[in-house]
Amino acid sequence: ASFELLLLPGDGIGPEVMAQVERLVQWVNETGEAELETTSDLVGGCAYDEHGEAISEEAMKQAVSADAVMLGAVGGPKWDDVPYDKRPEAGLLRLRKDLELFANLRPAICYPALADASSLKRELVDGLDIMIVRELTGGVYFGEPKEITDLGDGQKRAVDTQVYETYEIERIARVAFELAQKRGNLVHSAEKRNVMKTGVLWNEVVTRVHKDEFSDVQLQHILADNCAMQLIRYPKQFDVIVTDNLFGDVLSDEASMATGSLGMLPSASLGAEDENGRRKALYEPVHGSAPDIAGRDIANPIATIASFAMCLRYSFDLGGLADRIEGAIAKVLDQGYRTADIMQDGKHEVGTTQMGDAILSA
Ligand code: NAI
Ligand code: MG
Repeated sequence: ASFELLLLPGDGIGPEVMAQVERLVQWVNETGEAELETTSDLVGGCAYDEHGEAISEEAMKQAVSADAVMLGAVGGPKWDDVPYDKRPEAGLLRLRKDLELFANLRPAICYPALADASSLKRELVDGLDIMIVRELTGGVYFGEPKEITDLGDGQKRAVDTQVYETYEIERIARVAFELAQKRGNLVHSAEKRNVMKTGVLWNEVVTRVHKDEFSDVQLQHILADNCAMQLIRYPKQFDVIVTDNLFGDVLSDEASMATGSLGMLPSASLGAEDENGRRKALYEPVHGSAPDIAGRDIANPIATIASFAMCLRYSFDLGGLADRIEGAIAKVLDQGYRTADIMQDGKHEVGTTQMGDAILSA
């Protein structure tokens, strides 16, 4: 099969970590299992410098027609005073909105070699592999009304509105169940039906989608606050957690701390299925452009490389190659290779390109 992949390296360390992905694209093509055709374009501050916009119409067109998009990172102090709607993040928001990326996948994986860097005890996280599926385009971050009203006498009233409709819950639930079928076959659905109407509907819709379409998957409902507690108490009880935008924001950041460094965390954002059953998708590391270390070839490329592995698995159905890349990451960590952000006593410190070398040869 052949696929079109749009690369948007962006700003700061973005181009440095994306360069390692380009080497892996070449490796994929050499395996003969698929043909990846890449195009590169600008996003973020570098796009603003060139076009006066955080992403050009031309790049947006490419993003819509590509089979998948990989993004490095955007932003940096250079663009702090750029008008709000042209700031680097606007490029990312535009991509999320135009591709209707409603499902944010945030894995929390703990490589055994790094278990000591976790905020939790080694035995709790060694081998941890959770997938948090966060609804990304609805809920309280977007619901109307959203306002602050002046009530006089120094008093104000602030309102945010949590809104979900059936179709939004159905489609995120399907993503979670489909993922679980390819993993540990267990979904926890987190909401607060005890105090929120959106929680009641969430619970009802997830239950129905499960019964009608995915009864082979194990489903457990869990209150979101209990979920937060269980993630610290015994995280390995989870496989896939599906939840709304707000709870997902909090729970995914919480779970990520079980894994060690920001430089290790990949993500995927998936959109609606088209008529051919293919989803729009954007893959990116969780970290930002790290201006403090940019240009020195010391950034950790693993988050971006692991995001590429997710791209192979979810957009190109190349799970075997994704497994090999993830296996190579685990292997180089076992061999003692470390970038500065995950350096430990007695290990071998390497730069961005050298980490790419090690993973490629593994
Ligand atoms: P950041 O994630 O860029 O950096 C936070 C800290 O982690 C820094 O000390 C950095 O050196 C370190 N770090 C991050 N990624 C690393 C890697 N791969 N290897 C080694 N160390 C790494 O977050 P920060 O500093 O808050 O933001 C910097 C810029 O990035 C800002 O302009 C911000 O708006 C932007 N940003 C962009 C994001 C995106 O493109 N999705 C996400 C978060 C921030
Ligand atoms: Mg967050």
